[in-house]
Amino acid sequence: MLILVESKTRFSAVCFVLLLLSTTCLYGQPEPAAMRNPDWFPKKDMLTIGVYYYPEAWPESQWARDMANIRKLGMEFVHMGEFAWYFMEPEEGKFDFDWLEKNVELAARNGLKVILCTPSGAPPIWLSREHPEILMVDAEGRTMDHGSREQGDWSSPVYREYVTKIDTELAKRFGNDKRVWGWQIDNELSHYGRRFSYSKAATLRFRDWLREKYGRVDRLNQAWGGAFWSLMYQNFDQIDIPNAETLVADPSPHAALDFRRWFAQEAAGYIQLQADAIRRYSKNQWITTNFMSMHEDVNPALSERTLDAFTWTHYPVHGELLDGSLGFRLGSASIMSFMHDFMRNLGGPSGLMELQPGQVNWGEYNPWPQPGAIHMWILRAFGAGAQIVCTYRYRQPLFGSELYHKGLAETDGVTPSPGGREYAQAMADVIKLRQHYRADAAEPRAYAARRTAFLINFDSRYDIEIHKQTARWSTEAHWMRYYRALKTMMAPVDVLADDRDFSKYPFVVAPAYQLVTQELVARWKSYVAGGGHLVLTCRTAQKDEHGHLWEGPWAEPIVDLIGAKIPFYDTPPPAVNGHVTAEGQTYTWGSWGEILDPAGGTKILAQYADQFYSGRAAAVTRNVGRGSVTYIGVDTEDGEVERSLLRGVYQRAGVNPSDLKPDFLVDWRDGFWVGTNFASDPQAIPASPRAQILVGQRQLAPGQAAVWVEP
Ligand code: GAL
Repeated sequence: MLILVESKTRFSAVCFVLLLLSTTCLYGQPEPAAMRNPDWFPKKDMLTIGVYYYPEAWPESQWARDMANIRKLGMEFVHMGEFAWYFMEPEEGKFDFDWLEKNVELAARNGLKVILCTPSGAPPIWLSREHPEILMVDAEGRTMDHGSREQGDWSSPVYREYVTKIDTELAKRFGNDKRVWGWQIDNELSHYGRRFSYSKAATLRFRDWLREKYGRVDRLNQAWGGAFWSLMYQNFDQIDIPNAETLVADPSPHAALDFRRWFAQEAAGYIQLQADAIRRYSKNQWITTNFMSMHEDVNPALSERTLDAFTWTHYPVHGELLDGSLGFRLGSASIMSFMHDFMRNLGGPSGLMELQPGQVNWGEYNPWPQPGAIHMWILRAFGAGAQIVCTYRYRQPLFGSELYHKGLAETDGVTPSPGGREYAQAMADVIKLRQHYRADAAEPRAYAARRTAFLINFDSRYDIEIHKQTARWSTEAHWMRYYRALKTMMAPVDVLADDRDFSKYPFVVAPAYQLVTQELVARWKSYVAGGGHLVLTCRTAQKDEHGHLWEGPWAEPIVDLIGAKIPFYDTPPPAVNGHVTAEGQTYTWGSWGEILDPAGGTKILAQYADQFYSGRAAAVTRNVGRGSVTYIGVDTEDGEVERSLLRGVYQRAGVNPSDLKPDFLVDWRDGFWVGTNFASDPQAIPASPRAQILVGQRQLAPGQAAVWVEP
């Protein structure tokens, strides 16, 4: 992902200049990023579990009791402060951290480590009234008011200044405090349903970013296709954020693509701004932010060098209908596991900063999770290599917009909820597992042989969203079809941004890479030539990094790599399904179908079985020395043909894939096998008769987990 690397460099340059010009000059230059310290998350502890607590919302007389009860549940840390700006700075420049200090002390006395948060997700009323320019502006031009959260505009220099100030004061007070273990920046950086700010401040920063990227406006006109509809600009100051609400028809897709890139980098810059403010006074504390699960507007990979730990939030059960009769109570195995596999590969400790403790309040429907499922999710985190799981929240709120949200304690503030008991059970299990930890445990060979790099690219994701071409397409669902199939084969998967080195992986799956650079295609080619097995899927290589089609055959850069031409594709309406056959089986498809013309030496794996292109190829493969490349041009809804074709790739490569029931996940970590049953029927764990079962049992009901070791 050279685009990313290049723009990262450009971005740091812009950021550096802007930082100098805006807030940081008030506080001097931040010190360089702290080195990641292995003692923060000792390997032998494997996983630690904790909980959010909001002292500002409860009477002081209950703090000591609550902290003691958190400890009694077995929790090892407590997380505080992400919405408490008003209580930290009740009036401009008057800081009050004494209440927080008391709670840090209570936590420490109870043996709980502390994560403190920057409160930038909830600016205080005095700030919004004094400086309304800190408020974000939505697509319809309305300024978002005080009265909820995340209304602060990250692009506002005034907001950045106030945020830097409160962060600095917090860090001065707690940055050298051994009781404080780590920091969280903001909360789920996003503007939720309002998505992007269209404020003047955001517009100015977007223009600066474009200036930096293109240098001259004629280059921008070229990249944005200004010759189409006379969309030429004469200078950068004429450019606004592309906004469908203020345009008669679609904006330039290339402008929209740049805006999405800028926004992701703006978010990363805002994280950087806050990390720098904390680091200036913080000694030996780690910094994270709680990214949202599967969120596309903010890209965690852009904060790889800024953060020490990579955490995310996940609420698996909120009324969504998923596969299986119990899917709505169990959550998506694929999404949860995929996010672990993504965050784990960002270079630091990783895990869940928010995991549901029970029923939530914000879904359209809010069912009760399957009894046992919460415990299973925590063990899934364990199996996926997470070092941290935290739950939102300890006490169920008695007021505020989330009062129907469960906590670890019931509404009386003391009785453990069913979810609270599952957290306590999981912590007890982890403590037991720590006794069996072996630093020298080697990854089992058959498992390692299936290791797969799953490449993702946010620019392609943005570009597809801008140019979907069929409402039946979902990039997330497309990714999940492949990911889910990989997990049925019991393959360990690393989800990687493609600027990472994937050359050592036996298998690489790169789904729906709509945008490619010639450099990336060259890396794919040398990977295959070096004996790797590459799987590419439909929509790949349609466009260059600006989102322009190639002046040549469709998907020109990969035609010789995949050994096929792609003369056209089809996208039937929802009422029409097509069919494909592969190895004598017939499968249904509907969202995207590319018709492939294989060259000599390319083998057909699947063929269309109807429509006017019946008999033509839908998936192909070819060998390149010891390596292979497989191209799957069809996108189904149930993922069955994808699963069967992927199995073929592993089998032809001489690697034996398992055949687990979809959503029954089994992974290996630090010597332990971990099975988690997200499927709606019982599953038997693939343990040998001599295996020692440490948690659970051999037969897992839906929502149950087991951990075992093989002799
Ligand atoms: C999260 C958010 C928390 C809380 C929670 C409720 O997305 O970060 O602050 O609102 O949802 O489920």
